[in-house]
Amino acid sequence: MRTNEIVKRAAELKIAIPAFNIPYLPMMEPVVRAVEDEDTFGLLAVARLEWIKFESGSMAAVRHEYGRFAESKHVRLHLDHIPVIDEDDERVDYLAHIREALELGYESVMIDGSRLPFDENVEATARVVEAAHTAGVPVEAELGAVLGHEAEPSMSYEEIVATRTGFTDPEEAARFVHETRCDWLSVAFGNIHGHVSKALRDKEKVAARLDIEHLERIRAGAQVPLVLHGGSGISTAMMQDAIRAGIAKVNVGTDIRQVYERKLREAGGAARDAVYERTRELLREHFRISGMADRLLAR
Ligand code: 13P
Repeated sequence: MRTNEIVKRAAELKIAIPAFNIPYLPMMEPVVRAVEDEDTFGLLAVARLEWIKFESGSMAAVRHEYGRFAESKHVRLHLDHIPVIDEDDERVDYLAHIREALELGYESVMIDGSRLPFDENVEATARVVEAAHTAGVPVEAELGAVLGHEAEPSMSYEEIVATRTGFTDPEEAARFVHETRCDWLSVAFGNIHGHVSKALRDKEKVAARLDIEHLERIRAGAQVPLVLHGGSGISTAMMQDAIRAGIAKVNVGTDIRQVYERKLREAGGAARDAVYERTRELLREHFRISGMADRLLAR
């Protein structure tokens, strides 16, 4: 079954597929084992910033590591954030990255035009959709802006929420999906990414407060499975409310990355075991999707 059908099924079942970010290649094996041992389904994701700022190597290196698990029915490979303008305000040759991913066999891709004006975001996303759909690969796009990746944040989380900076506009969401034909939409409604700059990446993530009513309005407009970025540091009750309101995919980076990095510093070899245990816990207690593989993957 293709990733697009699985995410659609998740939306119908009112559950969410977690996409686990892999900033260090050795994290992939314990994540896959955890998903298999919970008899469920998850995506393995890598974003451009994870091979530039962390140690996943390259898009090709991640694809190569995934080759060990590609036969597993429990996981698929997703290309996360390919920005048009990145978190350091640099322009990126996004189409070249997307084409490389399609050639390597990534099974879904994300184009992030969230730092562009609406019309330019539509244009870049539509270009990526054309290339990816020709290869039979679904596309995630972002409208509004999930902040937090910037090296020098211009406002605190409290200010972002108070001013609703970056929140996705429900009417724009409807137009955006219609005009781009993207398959999934990453939306902003109080969620925030964990820090990735060297200075801030070890900090404990702020507990996000999601505006579920705003999410419901976006959902009514967008009519495609919605994606929650910044999945770390959200209470289980709030996460479950967001899933009931239309979130069908949740990106989780900081949570398992910090588990891995802390254990590496403390105890060396046990870091992968710690990722395995934490991922199982998230699948079971936070996402509540243990034992769901058959229902998600049945034709
Ligand atoms: P967190 O690091 O906050 O979990 O966010 C991950 C993410 O959204 C990657 O795209």
